[in-house]
Amino acid sequence: MQRRDFLKYSAALGAVSALPLWSRTALAAERPALPVPDLLTADARSRIKLVVQAGKSTFGSFTSTTWGYNGSLLGPAIRLRRGKEVNVDIHNTLPEETTVHWHGLEVPGAVDGGPQGVIAPGASRTVTFTPDQPAATCWFHPHQHGKTGRQVAMGLAGLVLIDDDDSRKLRLPQQWGIDDVPVIVQDKRFTAGGEIDYQLDVMTAAVGWFGDTLLTNGARYPQHAAPRGWLRLRLLNGCNARSLNVAASDKRPLYVIASDGGLLAEPVKVTELPMLMGERFEVLVDTRDGKAFDLLTLPVSQMGMAVTPFDQPQPVLRVQPLRIAASGTLPDTLVNMPELPALDNLTRRQFQLSMDPMLDMMGMQALQEKYGAQAMSGMDHGSMHHGSMGQMQHGGHGFDFHNANRINGKAFDMATPLFAAQKGRDERWVISGEGDMMLHPFHIHGTQFRILSENGHAPAAHRAGWKDTVNVDGGVSEVLVRFNHDAPQAQAYMAHCHLLEHEDTGMMMGFTVA
Ligand code: C2O
Ligand code: CU
Ligand code: CU
Repeated sequence: MQRRDFLKYSAALGAVSALPLWSRTALAAERPALPVPDLLTADARSRIKLVVQAGKSTFGSFTSTTWGYNGSLLGPAIRLRRGKEVNVDIHNTLPEETTVHWHGLEVPGAVDGGPQGVIAPGASRTVTFTPDQPAATCWFHPHQHGKTGRQVAMGLAGLVLIDDDDSRKLRLPQQWGIDDVPVIVQDKRFTAGGEIDYQLDVMTAAVGWFGDTLLTNGARYPQHAAPRGWLRLRLLNGCNARSLNVAASDKRPLYVIASDGGLLAEPVKVTELPMLMGERFEVLVDTRDGKAFDLLTLPVSQMGMAVTPFDQPQPVLRVQPLRIAASGTLPDTLVNMPELPALDNLTRRQFQLSMDPMLDMMGMQALQEKYGAQAMSGMDHGSMHHGSMGQMQHGGHGFDFHNANRINGKAFDMATPLFAAQKGRDERWVISGEGDMMLHPFHIHGTQFRILSENGHAPAAHRAGWKDTVNVDGGVSEVLVRFNHDAPQAQAYMAHCHLLEHEDTGMMMGFTVA
C-alpha cells in the first residue's frame, strides 16, 4: 500500500460521511458516487430519533418532492445490538398518517408498526424493544393500509442492521460504506414535471406499480470505489412490485453469506441472484483482480416487468477497485443453522392467495393498452381466455379494485384477525398461488422462518436459511414458522403479499399470537 493512499484511507475511516473525498480521484467524473446512508446508533440513553419528513431530491437533471427519514429521501441505517434495548422516538411531520414497520425484526405486535400503529400528522410515537435474533440486514418502511405503496414510492425506507457476537468473530468486511456497502435498489417513474408519478389504479392493483428508472440508494447508476479484496454488498430489493435478478456484468461469482434473517451456514456461490420485493441478501464479491465491473439486474419473467428499458440488463452500481487492500475475508463456514424439526404433528394452516378475475382481466387489458404487446412478452397468461373484451368493459364498469386481492377469499379487514397462533410453537404454513399467474412474495411479520418448499421445489441453498419472505408464483410453497412474541387483536401481526399494490388492495391478513 502506498503511503499516500494509506493516509487517505485512514482519514476516511475516521470520517465515514466524508468518504467520497478520498475515493473521488478513482471515479469517473460523470457518474454520481454511491450515496451511503448514515449509520445511526442509539445514544447514551438508548434512544434513536426518526423524523418522517418531506423534502426535495435531485435525480440527474430534475428535482422532485420526496419523503425520507431524517432527510429528504430514504433513511439512515439503524445499527442495533442483539440483547440491547432501544427506544425509537418517531415524529411524523408529513401531512398524512403513517406507520413505521420493522420488516424482519422479531418484535411484539405492539411495536411492530403494522397498519394499526398509526402516527397522526404532527404526532409522535415512541417504541421500545430489545432485538433478540441473529445478526441480519433488515429494513423499516411505512405500513399505512392502502397507502403503503405510495409512501414507499415517495422514498420512505431505511435499513436496520442487527449485530451480534457470532458475526463479529467472522472477520467479514465491516467498514461501513467502504467494504461493507448497502445497496438499496428501487425503480421509479417520474412525471414530465419531474415529480414521482404514483398511481394506485386497476392496472397497478393487478401487476403493481413499476417505473422506468432504476435507483441505487436514491442515485441513478452510481459508482463505488472499493479497496481491493472482498467487498460485502448488503442488497435490498426495495421496489414496490419489481423482482430483480442481480448479477455481475463480467459474470464473476457472488458469494451469498446471508438471507433476510441472517447468516447462512456457509457461503453459497451464485452467478445470478433473483431477489423478490422486500428481500435482502448479503453477498461477498472478489475484487482482487482490480478490474471495474457493473452490478446489474437481468430481465425477469414477471408480468409487466419486461417493459423498456427492463427488457435489457440494467446497471445497478459500477464497482471500481482501488489499489489499497481490503481487510475482510470470506470464511468457509458462517453460523450453525438448526436442523429442521419433525413436521408431522405441527399445526398446519393453509392460505390461498387470489385475485378477483375481473381485476385480473381489467388489469391485463390496461397493461396492454398502456405498454403494448411488450408488457405481456414471455408471459403465458391465461386471463385473456376468460372473456371477451366487450364483457370486460361492460362488467368492469364501476368495478372497485380496492378489495380485489384476497387471502382465503377475504380482502384485508383490520378488525378481524383470521386466526390465533400459539407463542413459541412451530407451525407449518402452506401458501398457494394456484389460480393466477402472478408473482406473490409472501411476507410474515414477527418471525424469521425456514422455507420447506417453494412452488413445489426444495429451496435453493441460499434460500434455506432464515427468511421472512417466500416466493409464491403459480404454485404452492411451505414454510416453518414460529412466533416468540405476543400480538394482541389491537396490534395483530400481518402476513401479506409484498407486491405493495397487492397488499394495499387486500392481499393481507392479520393474526394474533398469545
Ligand atoms: Cu415489509 Cu408487512 O412489510
Ligand atoms: Cu414486515
Ligand atoms: Cu401478490
